[in-house]
Amino acid sequence: MSPADHLAPVFAQYPIEVVDAEGVWLHTRDGRRILDLYGGHAVAALGYKHPGWTQAIAQQAGLCNFQSNAVPMEVRVRAANKLTKFAGGHFDSVFFVNSGAEANENALRMAFKMTRRPNIVGVEGAFHGRTAAAGAVTWGADKKWYEFPRTPFGVAYIPRGDLAAISQLVTRDTAAVIVEPVQGVGGAFDMGAEFLGALRQRCTLMGAQLIFDEVQIGVGRSGWPFAANMYRVMPDMITTAKALGNGFPCGALLMSPPVTDSLKLEGLGTTFGGGPMACAAIEAVVDAIETEDLLANVREVSRYLRETCTVGPVVGHQGAGFLHGLRLDRPAKEVQAALLARDILAGTSADPQVLRLLPPYTLKIEHVDLLRAALEDL
Ligand SMILES: Cc1ncc(COP(=O)(O)O)c(C=O)c1O
Repeated sequence: MSPADHLAPVFAQYPIEVVDAEGVWLHTRDGRRILDLYGGHAVAALGYKHPGWTQAIAQQAGLCNFQSNAVPMEVRVRAANKLTKFAGGHFDSVFFVNSGAEANENALRMAFKMTRRPNIVGVEGAFHGRTAAAGAVTWGADKKWYEFPRTPFGVAYIPRGDLAAISQLVTRDTAAVIVEPVQGVGGAFDMGAEFLGALRQRCTLMGAQLIFDEVQIGVGRSGWPFAANMYRVMPDMITTAKALGNGFPCGALLMSPPVTDSLKLEGLGTTFGGGPMACAAIEAVVDAIETEDLLANVREVSRYLRETCTVGPVVGHQGAGFLHGLRLDRPAKEVQAALLARDILAGTSADPQVLRLLPPYTLKIEHVDLLRAALEDL
């Protein structure tokens, strides 16, 4: 039996089958030990078999595995308080959901509700998810997979880094600007403080909402709680997911006070979002980041990666923290395959010359040394 027998044939498969994992290492059915520099698309922030996270999930399963948002539960309140505090106090409420796309869907809904305007402005190269609204603001989705007959609202895209286009495209018809502060799928592309600051200024001037999609860069991956903290540019809303649950499916929409104030009972809804298991996972992720000083580790190890890994096919570095792009002198797919043959898992991106690294925050300098040696060998 092939592992994919009855699964929908929509995902290209890596030529490995994982049966077990620990720390930053994957163990395959055929007995290989593979260094995971991809973290399951940026999800495995704490790596594998993290004791605190594993215990938190087991403990919550032993207490109560599910009650909906209609039933107060302390673990849900703890997770929301912990996450808003972690983000630095700018946001005063959290709406928990199940995925990144769902977080974006709800952020866009809030922007339309608050402004009653017809359009959204996105950024070229962005990825925001596969649902109707999130897909509508994803660059190039219409040509690749969108399939819905039309988008539910007007969308315009700012070319990356184009400051002049900001004032042309963000107008009084704009409900929101949605931007990944560091693009993930687009190729670990750092938007930079100047561009993000200009978006903030223009949105404030035009009365449009600014949404940071931190589904991939958020919850510590930048080396800061959120990229917003790193750039010192605060949006009206942050969406996040991936690392947030370390593999327990969850997402979150963080809202600043004016957004919170515009909420009304039953204005947003979900069955699974905010479930106690997800909340226990979220609490454990933030706890581990804080108690194990993982933000400092991400900053230190990513700096070392930049300083030491311009070797072999690598001609440059981009991105931020552990959303790291290795710019290559040859196709990333080729280098990805060659690294996997040397027991290192890395990812590609929409940019064919960029290899994307999204390792667990527990990655150490000695692991980067293994990557460098493999790259030198190519
Ligand atoms: C920046 C960004 N936003 C949104 C999404 C969609 O998240 P999900 O797959 O959890 O719906 C992704 C997924 O890759 C992403 O990278």
